Amino acid sequence: MISQESLFHVNLITLFPEIFPGILGHSLIGKAHEKNIWSYATINIRDFAVDSYGTVDDVPFGGGAGMILRPDVIQAAIRSIPNRTGPLIYFTPRGQSLTQNLVKSLIQHPSLTLLCGRYEGVDERIFQHYDVLEISLGDFILTNGDIPAFALLDACIRLLPGVIGKQESLQNESFESGLLEHPLYTKPVSWEGLDVPEILRSGHHGKIDAWRHNESIKVTRQRRPDLWIDYLKNKLK
Ligand SMILES: C[S@@+](CC[C@H](N)C(=O)[O-])C[C@H]1O[C@@H](n2cnc3c(N)ncnc32)[C@H](O)[C@@H]1O
Repeated sequence: MISQESLFHVNLITLFPEIFPGILGHSLIGKAHEKNIWSYATINIRDFAVDSYGTVDDVPFGGGAGMILRPDVIQAAIRSIPNRTGPLIYFTPRGQSLTQNLVKSLIQHPSLTLLCGRYEGVDERIFQHYDVLEISLGDFILTNGDIPAFALLDACIRLLPGVIGKQESLQNESFESGLLEHPLYTKPVSWEGLDVPEILRSGHHGKIDAWRHNESIKVTRQRRPDLWIDYLKNKLK
């Protein structure tokens, strides 16, 4: 669906347009799509093939395994997008890590274009010719850039106004304060010999907040000393 009236529009350049919206068509993100809070258009790389066999890639110069997406094909796909604005993003293990801060900066743009790689990747000259924001999902290798596109979009769209009912749910999450989230509990009060901490059942909001904050500090120090150091540095600023 192409709609420039939504709050957030995404152009997806992919070899497999049929996989979208996929998981993004369900639950809160799917409802937001129905409400036109966000919209997307797919651009099929294959439509810009250089021959009638549908060729979009070729072998690497200098030898080596795998195939590389041709720059002329990718350029034609990018150029086909009417009135393209906002960052052009390519998913690659060599990109900057996807973080909550990066997500927040991306939703400031009303439109993004995501180039989803396949095979060994895209000819380097695309990155020399275009201003491309390269983003990595983490230090591991996927077969494609479509999965990172799903992850990035889910993270972005859930922050758009009207997608998640309670804004409080967004504020209390990991990374929002620079700390990881405290442990969560629900019913039953006793399960397998394990009890919900007394304080959470006390109804004393001040004490509950203090307990949660301390637990957040504990889990962040134990599991992510890097985040803990950043948190302390930010507090001193
Ligand atoms: C098999 S991978 C290519 C890996 C590439 N030859 C390398 O060594 O960095 C195919 C495509 O999946 C995507 N991809 C794989 N792992 C990724 C990651 N960790 N983050 C973002 N995109 C990734 C990229 O678009 C990549 O072009």
